[in-house]
Amino acid sequence: MNRNIKDEIPKDASTGYYFYDLGMNLKQEYDKYTDKDVAVWKTLYERQIKNLPQKATAEYLRGIDTVQFVADKIPNFEEVNIILQKITGWRVHVVPGLIPNKEFFELMMNRNFCATTWLRRMEELDYLEEPDMFHDVFGHVPLLTNKELCNFLVDLSKIALKFIDSPLAIECVARLYWYTIEFGLIREAGGMRIYGAGILSSSGETEYSLFSDVPKRIPYNVRQIVDTPYIKDRYQEQYFVIDSFEQLYSSIPEIEQVIAEYVVKEKTLV
Ligand SMILES: [Fe+2]
Repeated sequence: MNRNIKDEIPKDASTGYYFYDLGMNLKQEYDKYTDKDVAVWKTLYERQIKNLPQKATAEYLRGIDTVQFVADKIPNFEEVNIILQKITGWRVHVVPGLIPNKEFFELMMNRNFCATTWLRRMEELDYLEEPDMFHDVFGHVPLLTNKELCNFLVDLSKIALKFIDSPLAIECVARLYWYTIEFGLIREAGGMRIYGAGILSSSGETEYSLFSDVPKRIPYNVRQIVDTPYIKDRYQEQYFVIDSFEQLYSSIPEIEQVIAEYVVKEKTLV
C-alpha cells in the first residue's frame, strides 16, 4: 500500500528526519496502491473539495482543475509532472517524509517539490503524526501552478542554503515557510481566503482559520513572523494574511535582510 517507502527507510532519532539521499531514486510505485488507499483518497477529497469554494484562494481552485485532481483517482506523479513542467517547470519529487534541511532546500531550489507517496488509513483520517500524501499533494501541488508562489519557494530556498550552517537562520526560514506556504491566508476581492496547504488539507482548520474568533489574523509581516514560534500540535493561534502572491514574492529581499541581521547579531528568537 505504498507505505513501504516510509516504513523501510530509517529515521534519524535525534532529528526526526529520514535518512535520505538523491541516489535512492524513490518512485511512486503507483501499482501498489490498494482499493483501500483509493477509498481514503476519495473520502478525503470529497469531504474537502466541497468545503473549499469561497474558502480557498481562487488560484488554488484553478490549480486543482489544472493538475486534474479528481475524487476517484490517486494522482499519478508522472502525469502531474508533465502538467507542472509546462506551466512552472516544477515536479513532484518522491521522499519518504521529512528529510534534512539541506537536501530539502536543494531540491526545492531546483523546482522539485518533496512529497511522500503513502496515504493515511481510514481510521486516522483526522490525526496524523507526519504529513502523508493527501497533505503533500492535495494541499500543496495545485498552487505549484502559480508562478509567484513558485518563485518565492525557489528564492526562499536560496536564502536557506546561503545560511544553511546557521540553525537560527533555518529556524527563521522554517517560520516563514510555516506561516505562508503551510498556514497562509490571502485577502482577495471576495474576502479572506486560504492558500496554506496545512489548512487546505484539514477540514477542521479550514473553517477555524477563516471564521473562528479565537485566532488572530495579522497582515503579512516578515519580522513579526520570524519572531513567532509555530504550533504543531493544535490549530494555529495566529494567521498571517498576504494581499497577493506578488506581495509574497516581492518580500524576498526583506527576508534575506532580516535573516542576515539575525545571523550577524546572533539574536535570540522568541
Ligand atoms: Fe506541507
